Amino acid sequence: MNDALARAESLIDLTPDYPEPGVLFRDISPLLADARALRDVCEALAEPFRGRFDIVGGIEARGFLLAGYVAAVAGVGVLPIRKAGKLPKPAAAVSYELEYGSAAIEAPGVLQPGERVLLLDDVLATGGTLAAAQQLIRDLGAEVAGSAVVLELSDLGGRAHVGDVHTLFTARES
Ligand code: PRP
Ligand code: HPA
Repeated sequence: MNDALARAESLIDLTPDYPEPGVLFRDISPLLADARALRDVCEALAEPFRGRFDIVGGIEARGFLLAGYVAAVAGVGVLPIRKAGKLPKPAAAVSYELEYGSAAIEAPGVLQPGERVLLLDDVLATGGTLAAAQQLIRDLGAEVAGSAVVLELSDLGGRAHVGDVHTLFTARES
C-alpha cells in the first residue's frame, strides 16, 4: 500500500462494542472529512476501472459520497442505490440479509440497456448489500463494470458472495 493510502487508512475511526458488544465498528467519517484522503481513496477506488464504466452506482448512504466524487472526476453520472421506500418510482428492488437484520434496496429507472455501472460502497461486511446491488443492476438490464469498497471486513466472508471486488483496506470485524 502506498503512503497516501496508508495515511487515509489511519484516519478510519474505531468504536468498540458498536452497534453491539464484540463488534469493532469502523467509521470513515474522518477520512471523508480530509480532502487529501478523500481524493486519494476515490482515485484508488476507480483506478482499475478507468475508461471501463459509464455511470457510478453509490450504495446508500456512505457509498453516495464516494460515487459522487468518482463520477465527477470521471465525467460520468451517478446512480443512487437506495434503501427501500425512498424512491417514488423504483424500477427494481432486491431484498437481502444484513449483518444486523434484513433490508431491501431499490434503484430508479435511469439506466440504458447494457450500461456499465461501477458499484461503490464504504464497507464490505457479509456481502449482502453489495451482492444485492449487483443483482439490482443486472435486473435493470445493465452491466456491473466492477465493484469497489474502501474497507473489507475479511472475517465476515463477504467476498464469497460478490465475485471480484476491489478493496483498498482489509481488517477483521472484532
Ligand atoms: C453498511 C455499509 C454497507 C453495508 C455492508 O451500511 O455502508 O453498505 O453495511 O454490510 P454487508 O456487507 O453486511 O451487507 P448500512 O446498511 O449500515 O447503511 P448506511 O450506510 O445507510 O449506514
Ligand atoms: N463500519 C461500517 N459499516 C459496517 C461495519 C463497520 O464496521 N460493519 C458492518 N457494516
